[in-house]
Amino acid sequence: MRMQDAVNVEDFRRLARRRLPRAVFDALEGGAGDEVSLRRNRAAFDRIEFRPRPLADVAKRDLSTTVFGERLSMPIMLAPTGASRLARSAAEIAVARAAARADVVYMQSTVAAFPLEDVAASSTGSLWYQLYLPPDRAGLGDLLRRIAAAGYRALAITIDTSILGNRERDTRNRLMSRPPRPRIVLQGAGKPAWATDFLRGKADYLRGRLGTAPPDAPSQLSLDQTRDTIMAASDCVTWEDVERVRALWTGPLIIKGLMRGDECDRLVEMGVDGVVVSNHGGRQLDGVPATIDVLPEVVDAAAGRLTVFLDGGVRRGNDAAKALALGAAGVFVGRPYLYGLAAGGEAGVVRMIELLREELDRAMALLGAATVADLDRTLVSGARVPGAPGPAGR
Ligand SMILES: Cc1cc2nc3c(=O)[nH]c(=O)nc-3n(C[C@H](O)[C@H](O)[C@H](O)COP(=O)(O)O)c2cc1C
Repeated sequence: MRMQDAVNVEDFRRLARRRLPRAVFDALEGGAGDEVSLRRNRAAFDRIEFRPRPLADVAKRDLSTTVFGERLSMPIMLAPTGASRLARSAAEIAVARAAARADVVYMQSTVAAFPLEDVAASSTGSLWYQLYLPPDRAGLGDLLRRIAAAGYRALAITIDTSILGNRERDTRNRLMSRPPRPRIVLQGAGKPAWATDFLRGKADYLRGRLGTAPPDAPSQLSLDQTRDTIMAASDCVTWEDVERVRALWTGPLIIKGLMRGDECDRLVEMGVDGVVVSNHGGRQLDGVPATIDVLPEVVDAAAGRLTVFLDGGVRRGNDAAKALALGAAGVFVGRPYLYGLAAGGEAGVVRMIELLREELDRAMALLGAATVADLDRTLVSGARVPGAPGPAGR
């Protein structure tokens, strides 16, 4: 199959699996422990059913929405993924350009191959920034000033990585070991297109072909550095940290990784603007519920005071429609765009986004929802809505 023939995210997944060395594919694809939460994220979407209202007039449809005062072409966005460079050496720069071309929000990860200024300079689109706090909190003010000066519009603090999850696929593959294990080298040699890009990427960047960084700009291009950044990033974030960031960051502030409703009041009191219901794509605490099963609880607890987003397991526009119907203001996808990036670089990410857009548009038409605001809870059944009757309620 060629990229042009891919008709859905699963096709992009197959293309990515074919292009990447096994250990690299595992690193992007895998979850924590027994991968129970990873599977739950998907299974829970499949359990939810649509209840269409087909007589509504859907001849004209509008997928746009407004979030934090910003008009978005659609409520599907790109989640932060560290180590995107494993998929393609152009990494965050390719993703940011694709997001701008497709007119969707890209939330860039702290664990990036390029300086945040480079990514911002390469894109005309709407960029948000995902923050892992620097271990030395004294540097926080400077970092937040850099993020704001570069033009990132919203900031998300990820709270579910006090330490790194138990990614057994990575432990087994020992992807990051130095020197690389012979098996990894052989796997790389067996995927020459990937290996050439991976090795050339650093040289290209240093020659200044990508980005606009001064030659001495900090970059985190090597796997060693990526590993170090991930380790450093895995740090306890506390309520005091949220307070500290809130005092320094004037734009919209989001907490990413909330998995229960009873923390919403305190977040509202602290002046937080939004939350992402997320279990880190099943990569951190194995055993937590599917995010779509927690979403109604958080939406109800937020009671309109927080903008609620969701990520985890969204593989179809139809999944996005279900989350929006259950009260999400928007959804993020992680692995789907990494598949697009691996399969076709910037063009692959654009195509993947357009497939999701077409699916969301079709789902809305067939549901009888002409606008995003028309997507409401009456359009779905089988969700875990607090207080709802029936076996699915709790
Ligand atoms: C390879 C990979 C790297 C990730 N890196 C980060 C990260 O650096 N920061 C973060 O907040 N979340 C990170 N995440 C989690 C995503 O932001 C998101 O929560 C998750 O991928 C959503 O699930 P999905 O992949 O099923 O769409 C990562 C996920 C993957 C798959």
